[in-house]
Amino acid sequence: MADMMWAGRFSKKIDDTVNAFNSSIAFDGRMYRHDIQGSIAHATMLGDCGIITKEDSLQIIDGLKGILADIDSGKLELDPSAEDIHMFIEAELTKRLGDVGKRLHTSRSRNDQVAVDIRLYLRDEIQEIYDLVKKLAVTLVEMAEQHTETIMSGYTHLQRAQPITFGHHLMAYVFMFLRDLDRLNDVSKRMNYCPLGSGALAGTTYRTNRKQTAELLGFTAPMPNSLDGVSDRDFCVELNCTLSLIMTHLSRFSEEIIMWCSWEFKFIELDDAFATGSSIMPQKKNPDITELIRGKTGRVNGDLITLLSMLKGLPLAYNKDMQEDKEAIFDAVDNVKLCVKTFIPMISTMRVLKENMRNAAARGFINATDCADYLVKKGMPFRDAYKITGTLVAQCIEKGLTLETLPIEDYKAMTELFDNDVYQAINLETCVRERKSEGGPSPEAVKEQIAIAKKTLGI
Ligand code: ARG
Repeated sequence: MADMMWAGRFSKKIDDTVNAFNSSIAFDGRMYRHDIQGSIAHATMLGDCGIITKEDSLQIIDGLKGILADIDSGKLELDPSAEDIHMFIEAELTKRLGDVGKRLHTSRSRNDQVAVDIRLYLRDEIQEIYDLVKKLAVTLVEMAEQHTETIMSGYTHLQRAQPITFGHHLMAYVFMFLRDLDRLNDVSKRMNYCPLGSGALAGTTYRTNRKQTAELLGFTAPMPNSLDGVSDRDFCVELNCTLSLIMTHLSRFSEEIIMWCSWEFKFIELDDAFATGSSIMPQKKNPDITELIRGKTGRVNGDLITLLSMLKGLPLAYNKDMQEDKEAIFDAVDNVKLCVKTFIPMISTMRVLKENMRNAAARGFINATDCADYLVKKGMPFRDAYKITGTLVAQCIEKGLTLETLPIEDYKAMTELFDNDVYQAINLETCVRERKSEGGPSPEAVKEQIAIAKKTLGI
């Protein structure tokens, strides 16, 4: 049975099953660096404010640094029966320093301690995720630059709709990921306030300096209210929302890649290093990575619901329910990192089968709007032009032709406004080139989108 630091008012030792149930070290152990970082700032402040002696403060800081080095090197292993990472490190410090170690927790509670640890931990994770998503956006911009002339069909209702280019399509994702980067910045800014010094919930009677610890830890300022300081987990929810959106974008993209890999589309071919085979069907090459990303999106969304449900009924201030925040947000963070890391090399090594894209684009009457627009430019009202073109499409389907191969006589039979130049107007390359409107698929317009993205990315 473990000897608890808070055992003073208890006459019995904690039951082993309860201890195992209560313990969070299995999942909060990963915050040991940040716990020590927070404790060093706290000990520095205690020394500077004369709450503990300078000598004690220095000894504690030294002791904490020693523990950090020993955990880093593997010399000191986390004890799985410890209550949590905070208790483990404090106990180890006291083991090493004796009474001096017992002074570290003066004017602090695990409630403000854990709140500061999670913020420090997630701040580092957000930076990593930011860099990864940025790398993904850069990769996509570079690919888009190669494909400003690669004709493909754009879809609505998964039916071929109007001509675009593969570059135009890729840039749509770039702008989603740019918004994600913006959201990550927003979350970082809003969460960068320091709860340390809030105590258990009601501050402290010691004359502490909260500005100093906030500054030492790189926070913008101390959190203005101690109850909010210990019980706020909004930043976990906000971050998880952002992560869910990143996953949503990856998942939509994955769904398209899954379709594009099928024989029905065959728009792309994944590199062999980024696909998998079947144990029974020798011909199979499966896009497992993208399917896993699509699957994991549900899991990250689940983490968001876990956090929201955990918080919704909690009275102020700290409640143990809040220990459940970590597994959820860590799971979301871990999985997003895994997904983006795997997605980048997969997408940058895939082969784009331009011919197949072009052929599919040629078979869906995606130039029908352009055919109608041709008549409009010759003076016909759009609704009449639309109707005539619809009739022509029906004729093509009946005769097994396309608008490109339908004889001019059939056109002229509908209206004398048609001339031989209609074939030029409905040529797919023309259709794309003429869609010069801002945000559109013409090579010119896509190059402008690329320029905007590059400016935002600073490349
Ligand atoms: N392991 C706890 C958590 O993750 C630390 C805070 C414990 N505080 C308390 N009053 N029991 O939330």
